[in-house]
Amino acid sequence: MDFNLTEEHLMIRDAARDFAQTELLPGVIERDEKQEFPNELVRKMGELGFMGVMVDPKYGGSGMDTVSYVLIMEELSKIDASASVMVSVNNSLVCYGLEAYGSEEQKQKYLTKLATGEQIGAFCLSEPEAGSDATSQATTAEDKGDYYLLNGTKNWITNGGRADVFLVIAQTDRSKKHKGINAFIVEKGMDGFHIGPKEDKLGIRGSDTHTLQFNDVKVPKENRIGEDGFGFKFAMKTLSGGRIGIAAQALGIASGGYELALKYSKERKAFGTEICNHQAIAFKLADMYTEITAARHLVMKAACDKDNGTNYDQSGAMAKLYASKVAMEQTVEAVQIHGGNGFVKDYHVERLMRDAKITQIYEGTSEIQKIVISRSLIKG
Ligand code: CAA
Repeated sequence: MDFNLTEEHLMIRDAARDFAQTELLPGVIERDEKQEFPNELVRKMGELGFMGVMVDPKYGGSGMDTVSYVLIMEELSKIDASASVMVSVNNSLVCYGLEAYGSEEQKQKYLTKLATGEQIGAFCLSEPEAGSDATSQATTAEDKGDYYLLNGTKNWITNGGRADVFLVIAQTDRSKKHKGINAFIVEKGMDGFHIGPKEDKLGIRGSDTHTLQFNDVKVPKENRIGEDGFGFKFAMKTLSGGRIGIAAQALGIASGGYELALKYSKERKAFGTEICNHQAIAFKLADMYTEITAARHLVMKAACDKDNGTNYDQSGAMAKLYASKVAMEQTVEAVQIHGGNGFVKDYHVERLMRDAKITQIYEGTSEIQKIVISRSLIKG
């Protein structure tokens, strides 16, 4: 497989790297502590085209490919995974979902603002009792003629407190099981739509995660995405691409930890030499780099599959499964190489280790990725 990056890819990667170093790095520890991410930085990411990377320029997007997207995600995630999850949800779940399956009116009304970063999107599937088991939606959308009446609770919603546009999955006809599920566009401020308190999280603390409550929210019929009953497939198809973005995020967290560990090991001295000269550390570096390179191959394979029009359900799930495992394991090693310094915030690796954990949980746990992979193997 040829992963030679084009000149354009390298320019995009460098632009993301530069933004991450100059704009994201300076306040990243404070944002993690205070659990906040400034609107100003979101605006700048919009200006750089990071909020609608793959969206057609006619809808305000950057018109780039998935390889460019994963390069951007990796670079942002090396420094600030809270920023990158915001980018990931807006791109892979919300913009992609609307561009691929929305009506022309929905694209004109919503996608054009989301792709430029003028507005932010959220994807609302998870519920208190329906995280992994996504067909068991308790949120209902009752067909009332020219509108749906939406009732229920959504949990752990990324961008929940600050998004303007919410793609909400709900059950319209329980007797039809997953074929009775629909996806709706809900706007912030609709009557009966309440944003609950912010979650106090282990990692990605700068990202904005909330519970959302829908009490008799009237959603116009034209806000349903696709044909009646398309909601579950909409969610699955959208999440398949989302998993590539989160795989790239995990890759970035892992490589961010590795780069810090390599630098530290070349500066820190113990027993009369830089610690990288001790095999105990050198072998860790070798393992880290090998694992990260393997993860990068899986991420690039999935991105290329999507760009080539090949089915990417399996390759995306494999990339996410492996890259998230690498992120978790190798950030632990990065902390270990830093010794006591790794346990304090100033050295950044403890944050990367905390951030890594969520990549094994959201957009489908590692166990869900194994279900997706094994089913595609058995189906052939
Ligand atoms: N593309 C198209 N259709 C798909 C599909 C896909 N990738 N995956 C499943 N389907 C279809 C199936 O073909 C089937 O359709 P038919 O009945 O017409 O054949 C239908 O959907 C039901 O499929 P399954 O029987 O496989 O469904 P299941 O109940 O066994 O569930 C699952 C499969 C993979 C476990 C799924 O429930 C799943 O992915 N769960 C995890 C959900 C998830 O990722 N949640 C994360 C929330 S979002 C988030 O985290 C965002 C954030 O904030 C960062």
